[in-house]
Amino acid sequence: MKVDVLTLFPEMFAPVTGSSILGRAGEKGLLYINLINIRDYSSDKHSKADDTPFGGGPGMVMMAQPLFDAIRSLAAPQEAGLDTPAPAGRRPAGRRMIYMSPRGRLLDAALIRELAAEEELCLLCGHYEGVDQRVLDYWQFEEVSIGDYILTGGELAAMVLIDAVARFIPEVLGSSESVEDESVYSGLLECDQYTKPRSYEGLTVPEVLTSGNHKEIALWQYENSLALTQSRRPDLLRAYLEKEPELSKAEKKILQKVVAKPPL
Ligand code: ADE
Repeated sequence: MKVDVLTLFPEMFAPVTGSSILGRAGEKGLLYINLINIRDYSSDKHSKADDTPFGGGPGMVMMAQPLFDAIRSLAAPQEAGLDTPAPAGRRPAGRRMIYMSPRGRLLDAALIRELAAEEELCLLCGHYEGVDQRVLDYWQFEEVSIGDYILTGGELAAMVLIDAVARFIPEVLGSSESVEDESVYSGLLECDQYTKPRSYEGLTVPEVLTSGNHKEIALWQYENSLALTQSRRPDLLRAYLEKEPELSKAEKKILQKVVAKPPL
């Protein structure tokens, strides 16, 4: 997958996109993050990229000109210069154009899956009071928010989106890691986890997990997931229960036992 990122602060990305699983995905050629410094496209002699808002008010608004030229450059090969002609369509090369913004659609599991199916995305990171609306309208940006709070800029939100989407790209996760088994994607929160030693300063691991009985372990994990989901995310549990006809007999039995109990 290729992700074009339009930003005023490209240097913020390297520590995140160059480390750990994202770094490995980059090295393997599974994920290519193309950082575009919006200021490089400003026609102003001081590389100005923002100005005061029409109608007054606090803060600055990111200007149309540098953004239009930066986006136009995406339609052409990598080495395109500043005077690249405008593309025929308003989505350069058919990319989904996403503006990271607290006004947007909430980034959830369904949207992450949807975006992971794309070959190329373009993310715009806003700053200050926002972006000239003509940019968003003309280039048909969708707005995406990572939560009901305001960040100082869209860069951290873009990194959250890239990280969550990258995990769905085949081969990005190792063979032992599976996105589908995980909390939220499976519909339930993930069960509690433990590792060696069995006893640490008198604190012990639930006995069943060290029993070697795979069936018993799977039952414990399912029960634990259900109980956690019931107490922390009753909304997720309700959605899960609606899938009841698809559940196995064994699952339904445990479900009755756990869900009938009062929350943890
Ligand atoms: N930019 C500022 N706040 C944001 C948020 N909550 N989500 C996405 N982009 C943002």
